[in-house]
Parts: sequence; C-alpha cells; structure tokens
Amino acid sequence: MATYKSLSTQQLKELQGQLIDQYKAFQSRNLKLDMSRGKPGADQLNLTMGMLDVVNSSSDMKTIDGFDTRNYGVLDGIAEAKQLFAKLYGVSTDEILVGGASSLTMMYDSVVRALLHGVRGGKKPWGQCGKIKFLCPVPGYDRHFAICENLGIEMVMVDMTPDGPDMDTVERLVSQDSSIKGIWCVPKYSNPQGITYSDETVRRFAALSPAAEDFRIFWDNAYCIHDLYEDDQDHLLDLLGELKKNGKEDMAYIFASTSKITFPGAGVAVMMASKANLDFIRKDLSIQTIGPDKINQLRHVRYFQTPEKVLEHMKRQASFIRPKFQAVLEKLDGELGALEIARWTHPKGGYFIALDTMEGCAKRVVSLCKEAGVTLTSAGATHPYGKDPHDATIRIAPTYPPIEELKLAMELFCICVKLASVEKILETR
Ligand SMILES: Cc1ncc(COP(=O)(O)O)c(C=O)c1O
Repeated sequence: MATYKSLSTQQLKELQGQLIDQYKAFQSRNLKLDMSRGKPGADQLNLTMGMLDVVNSSSDMKTIDGFDTRNYGVLDGIAEAKQLFAKLYGVSTDEILVGGASSLTMMYDSVVRALLHGVRGGKKPWGQCGKIKFLCPVPGYDRHFAICENLGIEMVMVDMTPDGPDMDTVERLVSQDSSIKGIWCVPKYSNPQGITYSDETVRRFAALSPAAEDFRIFWDNAYCIHDLYEDDQDHLLDLLGELKKNGKEDMAYIFASTSKITFPGAGVAVMMASKANLDFIRKDLSIQTIGPDKINQLRHVRYFQTPEKVLEHMKRQASFIRPKFQAVLEKLDGELGALEIARWTHPKGGYFIALDTMEGCAKRVVSLCKEAGVTLTSAGATHPYGKDPHDATIRIAPTYPPIEELKLAMELFCICVKLASVEKILETR
C-alpha cells in the first residue's frame, strides 16, 4: 500500500471521500465507548473478589505483633504489610511506609510537605525558595503534571527516548539550576508509552549531582509488576540500591500501589525511601493522621500471603489485559502500518500504548472519535499544562472496555487517524 504522502492530490481527495463515508457509517451506530482512563476491566476486578471474604466478623483482627487493626494507631503500616510489600518491591522493612489507598495522594502529600516543611537535608522549605521547577519527561502522566500546576510549580519538559528521559538534558538542567527541585518518573512500563528505563538511565539517575541540595526524584513505580508476557519482560534496575552505592540514597522517593493489582481506590499504597527520609516524613505524617486503614492492609496480606502469590495473581491479571493490547496493536499495525502517518509503541506491560500522529493531528483525531461516540484521553493531556507542542501524542488505554467494544473503537480510531492525516496533507498542498 502506498504511503499517504506519495498520493496525488486527486487520489487523496478520493480517499477522503471514502473515509468520510466510513466515518459517517460509524456515527450512525450511536456508539458510547470510553477509552479515556487506564482502569481495570470488570473481569480483572472480579479476579480479586475473594479478598473481600478473607476478613469477616469471625476473623482474628490482630496483627502479627498484636495490634488490633480495628482501632487507631500504627502510623506507617502494619508489620505484615511492610514485610509483604518490602519483599515484593525489594527494599527493607525500614525503607517502606504502607499507607492508604492511593499512591497519588502520597505523591501529592510529599510535594506539599516539601513546600511547607522542606525535605531532609534542605536548608528551607521549597515554598520559601522563590520560583521552583520540576522536570517532566514527556509524554507523561497527566496527574503528575496536575499536581505541579495545582501547587504552582513550573514544569520543564524533557523528551522521552526509548531508554527513558533524555539524560543529557536531565543532567545538564539538574546540575545547573538550583530551582529544579524534582523530576517525575514512571520508570517501568511508563504512562503512556510503556517504556522501561534502561540500566544506564537508572545509573545516571543514581549519579545525579543536583545544584539543589533538596532535589528529589519522584520514582512512581506504578507498573513495576505489571508484565503482559511471562517470557518477554522488561527489567528495571533497583534505583535505591544504585543510589546507596553512590551515598545518595536520600535523593529518591519511590511509590507504588495495589490499585492495578486489586481494587483501584480500595488498594494499598506504599512509599519507599531511605530510612532517614522516612523518619523525617513520619514527623509530619503523625500530625496528618493517626493511622491508615489497617483492616484493608490486613485483608491484602491475608489474601496474598507471599510475594510469589502476588506475582501469580498478576499473571492472571495479564491474561485479561494481553488480548486487549494485542487487539489494539493488530489494528494499528494492520490499518496504519504502511501509511507513514503515525507511530506507536509496543509495550510489554503497563496500561497504555502511546500513538504519535503527524504533527498537528492529535486534537482532530480525538474530537473526530468523540463525535462518533468514542471518548479518548484528551489530546495534550500527556504534556504539562495540557499542551502538546506538536499536537501529536494520543494515549490509548485498552484495559477498560470489553474486547469486542475495544475492537470497534479501534476501527473507528484508525479511520479518524487516516481522515485527520489526509486533511493535514491536503492542507499543506
Ligand atoms: C503512573 C501512575 N501513577 C499513579 C497512578 C495512580 O495510582 P493510585 O491509584 O495508587 O493513586 C496511576 C493511575 O493511572 C498511574 O498511571
């Protein structure tokens, strides 16, 4: 099949007519499909229903060290939850804090705490340092950017590469500009490209020498055990371990949660960092709360028991997600592969696929889809302030719709990408 750019204007106009007909046929079907957020599908949620039965009115509600989970207390997580998640994530039990249901809340709180009270080793709170900035690898996770925007932190974009953020730029900016206090990272199966940082990238992070002595890497490891394939997985180097080798273990805050392991909104979130960082944070935490939902922590530990069983559970989760990713990729490869109008990633895990249209087409594609009943994540959401300078990146979230709906939505999506591309090429002729 010829590439679109090689077609004559006449051929493109004919193609446009055919695509409009196909598009109208979709519009008349009155679809109402939502592919906007990376939510687990109902079948994935059903997989964990047994967890709701492991703690009931006849359960022993005490922790292994004798605390009654029904009552106040235990600020930073019950002992068995610390043990389970520390093993799962490869840290020691004094490098983990087990909290409430959302890691995003922990990230927000961590930024607010730093603004109000500073971080360990800092001379003053971030909020008293004048204008401060965060590096934001793009494309990235919209809610990270929303935290910065909400709290008045300026965002500086850094391009993603297939190995992670462009580290030459990260090193240069971080070492020169003391107003840069942090960087957002989703180091494994990144949101939205599904990229895993290479070993070299992680080592370069661990060797950063920031101009700001109170700089922190926000290492949001949301998808660390979310592999799609048993025999073809990405492996992420242990950042905390690498930092320790360089005596820089205070430089990172690491986050994860069971949102996409058990129930989003009713899972368990953890923060991992050096013991010294956590000691510093616990002081503020003890003012903020008397303790997290320990019953939910108990439920998670009693259900899973061991890290190995969590990983088994993730294999079952993957069996629902994998066919959906494959359906999306088959459609994209089959429909758009030869046309040179878009590029997309082929992640081995996580929750997203990122597609780049031709420059200036993403908004048009999203609005065409919307007008035909398929809601996608807004174009621009993958960039700070909702502004993608190339208007190119679209985040595809395959997990939520049932697979038949997903296939239908992708059919429409490909028509919309084609239509927007033809319009754009004609515009420039
Ligand atoms: C990279 C990333 N971090 C965090 C979250 C949200 O995590 P939680 O449910 O633990 O707040 C998401 C949800 O999509 C995500 O993609």
